[in-house]
Amino acid sequence: MSERIFIGVAWPYADGPLHLGQIAGAYLPPDIFARYHRTKGNEVLMVSGSDQHGTPITIKAEQEGKKPSEIANDYHQQFLDSWQKLGISFDLFTTTGTANHAEVTQDIFLTLLDRGHIYRATVSLPFCPQCQRFLPDRYIEGTCPHCGFSGTRGDQCDACGKPLNTAELIDPHCRLCGTTPQFKDSEHFFLKLSAFRDRLLAWVRQQTHWRRNVLNFTVRYLEEGLKDRAITRDIDWGVPVPVSGFGAKRIYVWFEAVIGYLSAAKEWAKSSGDEEKWRSFWQGEVKSYYFIGKDNIPFHTIIWPAMLMGYDDLNLPYDVPANEFLTIEGRKLSTSRNWAVWLPDYLSRYDPDPLRYLLSVNMPETSDTDFSWREFIRRNNDELVATYGNLVHRVLTFVYRSFDGCVPHYDQIDARGKALESTAYALLNDVGKLLSDCHFKQAIMEAMSLAHETNRYLDEKSPWKVIKDDPQAAANYLYVALEVISCLKTMLYPFLPFSSQKLHEYLGFKGNVEDDGWQLHLPSPGQELLPPEPLFSKLDEGLVEEETNRLGHG
Ligand code: MF3
Ligand code: ZN
Repeated sequence: MSERIFIGVAWPYADGPLHLGQIAGAYLPPDIFARYHRTKGNEVLMVSGSDQHGTPITIKAEQEGKKPSEIANDYHQQFLDSWQKLGISFDLFTTTGTANHAEVTQDIFLTLLDRGHIYRATVSLPFCPQCQRFLPDRYIEGTCPHCGFSGTRGDQCDACGKPLNTAELIDPHCRLCGTTPQFKDSEHFFLKLSAFRDRLLAWVRQQTHWRRNVLNFTVRYLEEGLKDRAITRDIDWGVPVPVSGFGAKRIYVWFEAVIGYLSAAKEWAKSSGDEEKWRSFWQGEVKSYYFIGKDNIPFHTIIWPAMLMGYDDLNLPYDVPANEFLTIEGRKLSTSRNWAVWLPDYLSRYDPDPLRYLLSVNMPETSDTDFSWREFIRRNNDELVATYGNLVHRVLTFVYRSFDGCVPHYDQIDARGKALESTAYALLNDVGKLLSDCHFKQAIMEAMSLAHETNRYLDEKSPWKVIKDDPQAAANYLYVALEVISCLKTMLYPFLPFSSQKLHEYLGFKGNVEDDGWQLHLPSPGQELLPPEPLFSKLDEGLVEEETNRLGHG
């Protein structure tokens, strides 16, 4: 029976290029997951978009002397280009700058206001006398009241991950000029999060299938008690507050960005020609998954669920498989110190699948993991090229040459061949189960074990030698190898979509890998192959130095 799966993916701030930490953390996992479910025949809706509002964008715009809209639009175009090149297969990647998003946000705002989940209050907020402006979120820095970290911004602490109100910061100062702010009264709207605490705690405690780090963080956070949060800001870039007298304020970026999951589903429905279609991914029998980095956990396990509870009738998250962080060459990633590998740079020099491979086998699922160029090149050369690529290439070229470019006719499969077939069947199931449980790293390791096993089989059977004396026996062995290779192309498709599609065509299949289902797809004897090319290419060891030298400079 086919299932329905909603996949929400963190909305990246459109204030700079994407880096590998974001890809490993939040973008590659949902794509693997979506491709698996689509192949399985399930209905998938995977959405996200550029997060175009808030102080990350206005600060960047001020630094570059541009308008916030220019910054946001430029990076949005760059994101779209990166998704296409890396093969991140969103059903819709929109932005928070659309009229549809503003409408859906204002509807939720007004509904929550109407039901008493949002209230107005006058608060005293940091105001910089030098810059003559309020200092929301990233315009202010100070010390975290929870963990004592000293470079904490006004909206969230990077060290302990807790969301903050600017007034809670110790020793605050203006990020632009360094002045200590004064406090001035301003009227704002607040989300009554405190009232949701017991309901949230009861709900979260039932989510025993969540990753341990996500569950523990959330439970601890809720047990400490919940503070109401201001959801409007003294800023002029963002979604307008739909209440008169608030013309100079905007809805807080985090309150509206999470609403993007719903507004994007509505936009997708509208453009599909059936405006109500979004409901089939938001109500009833459907599982919603949210793929994010660990710094976004409380927004997805507490604040967004509270908003959904208050709004009523829409599904809460089923799972929030947040990843840990990726370090680069053993050091914490820093965009300001340029200690990062930027995705557009990577894609301008290398193919997408080797990166997808490395980030899959090295995914920061349960702890931080490290990216190094040495490991990237080693795994490309030893695993993609030597183990998998070479297996495929030696079988395809030999069959192509020896059997007139066609899949050979077999007459019997020996016990060893049958055992390899059953291993392939069993692994296809196991890998599928691991993928549906979001255990991506283990899934790709198991899939690769089949390539190793098939190499051993060919070393034992040596059809290249056998063919001289017993061409039928060679045909039998090679048929088994082709079968297993066809199975590998399916199993590895979620991780390596570009090379799997090529392999699918070399094997003589038409259409897309996805259309053939999550099953062993037998090549028919006599089926015409396409002239094979190597799936992967070896990378020069010298690139390690060249690439690491780029890190940490201007
Ligand atoms: N823009 C935020 C970030 O990059 C993530 C927003 S995720 C969403 O950290 F939930 F708000 F959509
Ligand atoms: Zn902190």
